Amino acid sequence: MPGHVEQARSGEPPIDAVVGDARELPEPDASYDAALLLGPLYHLPERADRVRAIREAIRVTRPGGPVVVAAISRFAAPIDFVSTGRFDERTAAEARRLVTDGVNDPSTGFTQAYFHRVAELRDECVEAGLTDLVIHGVEGPAWPAAEATQSGPIFDAALSLARVYSAEPDLAAVSAHLLAIGVRSARDGRA
Ligand SMILES: C[S@@+](CC[C@H](N)C(=O)[O-])C[C@H]1O[C@@H](n2cnc3c(N)ncnc32)[C@H](O)[C@@H]1O
Repeated sequence: MPGHVEQARSGEPPIDAVVGDARELPEPDASYDAALLLGPLYHLPERADRVRAIREAIRVTRPGGPVVVAAISRFAAPIDFVSTGRFDERTAAEARRLVTDGVNDPSTGFTQAYFHRVAELRDECVEAGLTDLVIHGVEGPAWPAAEATQSGPIFDAALSLARVYSAEPDLAAVSAHLLAIGVRSARDGRA
């Protein structure tokens, strides 16, 4: 967004930022040491667009460099409905719908969005060409308890548990956010 880019440029220290679409980055091949794709995947409901965005993040990263891709878990909203006291007939129906469809229903209050299953995020990253992939659950399995308490021993314990199970495949999906961390292959000659 132009407003955010302006803020980044005028901050201290100033950050060199430009407006761009993650699906077609205005940057040369292999021009960065690392790429963080932290947000665009949340808002691209079409799979082909998501793979394009990941491919672009890889393209602008030097061979051997890390690429980090964030996604919202398929089950984030239903868990949040419970922990914020909003689980009712309507949101229960939404929870059931999300089992088969990851496209968000904007009438629930959130914008156009896509919610990933862990396997989907993995497949999209692999298809885009990311190697050495590890998928982390960011908030961990006890995040609703952390959210409810905000601070103190339960919050601290939930954070510790998130670190213990960060890369545990069987638990990643219960985190609200997923973080796929991979590498542009050092032998990738696409640059
Ligand atoms: C939930 S925000 C996260 C922003 C940031 N990572 C943060 O933590 O504050 C999602 C971001 O993705 C951006 N976004 C959505 N679709 C995009 C696209 N196709 N290309 C580039 N950015 C996009 C939005 O403008 C928004 O800034």
